[in-house]
Amino acid sequence: MPDVTLTTLQSLKQSGEKIAMLTCYDATFAQAASQAGVEVLLVGDSLGMVLQGHDSTLPVSVTDMAYHVACVKRGNRGALILADLPFMAYATTEQALHNCAALMQAGAHMVKLEGAGWLAEPIRLLAERGIPACAHLGLTPQAVNILGGYKVQGRQEAQARQMRADAMALEQAGAAMLLLECVPNALAEEISQAVKIPVIGIGAGAATDGQVLVLHDMLGLSLTGRTPKFVKNFMAGQDSINAAISAYVSAVKSLSFPAAEHGFSA
Ligand code: KIV
Repeated sequence: MPDVTLTTLQSLKQSGEKIAMLTCYDATFAQAASQAGVEVLLVGDSLGMVLQGHDSTLPVSVTDMAYHVACVKRGNRGALILADLPFMAYATTEQALHNCAALMQAGAHMVKLEGAGWLAEPIRLLAERGIPACAHLGLTPQAVNILGGYKVQGRQEAQARQMRADAMALEQAGAAMLLLECVPNALAEEISQAVKIPVIGIGAGAATDGQVLVLHDMLGLSLTGRTPKFVKNFMAGQDSINAAISAYVSAVKSLSFPAAEHGFSA
């Protein structure tokens, strides 16, 4: 199989084949997931919660992220590596450029930034300098203290209108991909149809161009004992982690995941 590139992801969107993305933080899981057909390995700052045991993603540093990107790179067998810029690592455009360089040099192929329309400027600069960027809209966990918790975003018409406008503006600015987290299914569908770039969803229904889950969640592991509504435990009925990851890829490709119970209404 040829390596997954941005062009592969664009072709998948055009052909209607769903993109399977999974978080990944180390070499062994990178090998397992990429060999199971996961197209994008997201080195997410969720590692602050699932690996480091923090109660939010805020304590994660660029050094932490670069370390895990380098681990994932060693095990990866052809997937595209997407790395999160952690909290405050892109507060200024200078910081964004400097910290993206660290992640790209560690092995990332694309970076992800959480925010809204204000991401247009850093994303334009990154694209001009050869760094593809994914904009993360909706529930943006780095802003949990502003949002007042991990809540569905875009339920009010004004919020939904703003998110549609932000998505279009970010595509225009040069974003290579969008990620929508905890957004009503109908809004996610509208945005996915309105933009030409691939849109990946988590808690955003089945109509996005692909899906992502946190690895530990889909393996049925939880530090807190709480499982978000949009998660499915893919270990159920499987006898190995490899089989669970393959079942996730098949479910995404066949549109059997996410099911109605994993999504949110407006
Ligand atoms: O950090 C992460 O794992 C993420 C996913 C929840 C999409 O951003």
